[in-house]
Amino acid sequence: MNKIYLITGTSRGLGHALVKELIKSRENKVFCIQRSMGGEKRRMANANFYRCDLSNAKKLPELMNCIFNDIDFKKVESITLINNAGVLSPIKSIHNASVEEIGNNIDVNLKALIILTSLFLQKTQKLDIKKTVINISSGAAIHPYDGWSVYCGTKAGVDQFTRCVSLEQARQRHPADIFAFYPYIIDTGMQALIRKSDKKDFPKVKKFIGYKKNGNLLSAAFVAKTLLNFANGNNFENGGIYDIEDIT
Ligand SMILES: NC(=O)c1ccc[n+]([C@@H]2O[C@H](COP(=O)([O-])OP(=O)(O)OC[C@H]3O[C@@H](n4cnc5c(N)ncnc54)[C@H](OP(=O)(O)O)[C@@H]3O)[C@@H](O)[C@H]2O)c1
Repeated sequence: MNKIYLITGTSRGLGHALVKELIKSRENKVFCIQRSMGGEKRRMANANFYRCDLSNAKKLPELMNCIFNDIDFKKVESITLINNAGVLSPIKSIHNASVEEIGNNIDVNLKALIILTSLFLQKTQKLDIKKTVINISSGAAIHPYDGWSVYCGTKAGVDQFTRCVSLEQARQRHPADIFAFYPYIIDTGMQALIRKSDKKDFPKVKKFIGYKKNGNLLSAAFVAKTLLNFANGNNFENGGIYDIEDIT
């Protein structure tokens, strides 16, 4: 029997690490959603790749139709959607941000996540198998940062969306589980971008440069493994918001 995973933002960072961890087991079938395609296709036998720019909401139904057409449901034991793709920009005070920067952050971090969750739940509604949605959120959802207002706002939205969906699912005949996850500080491109920001746009930049210098960042591989162990352990509450620091 197969465990199916749909993951967004698999080109690099945490998403890529999740795929690397999952494909170690042949029972896992991974459906990777990414904006750009590398040479992964040849290297990963139990992973399928779908190109999609998540900021284009109109493309999402077609994307999910394609993926669900490619799944052989006779052999499926569980299905999981991991909404991982995210953008931090604009890193600046909101009065200096452009309409495009603001829109892109909301489109990727919140709009696509909500639409993909909706389509996933629609398409799996009648399936009596284990179904899970994992939303990658951030401590920024509850800790305000000067210069990250859009990111903090969209991540707070992810948390409340997660809680609401858990209430809706509780009334379903074959409910799905859903939880949000704060991965702490991971050594990915997103952190590199933070370290490059200007102090006038992000006053805490020095602190983040210090995290890297002092070896405080978690590796994406460690975060991926920890998250997957946690999800497979079934020790989460539906609608819960989990910080990696609380589960390690
Ligand atoms: N790194 C941290 O310290 C940290 C801390 C807390 C939470 N998080 C969260 O963890 C998740 C993963 O972050 P990360 O650190 O791995 O970030 P990352 O290295 O910057 O990777 C972000 C991923 O999202 C994808 N993405 C961005 N815009 C997209 C779009 N329009 N369409 C499709 N894919 C798009 C990127 O694809 P491209 O390669 O095409 O750009 C990339 O695969 C995010 O939700 C982030 O908010 C990260």
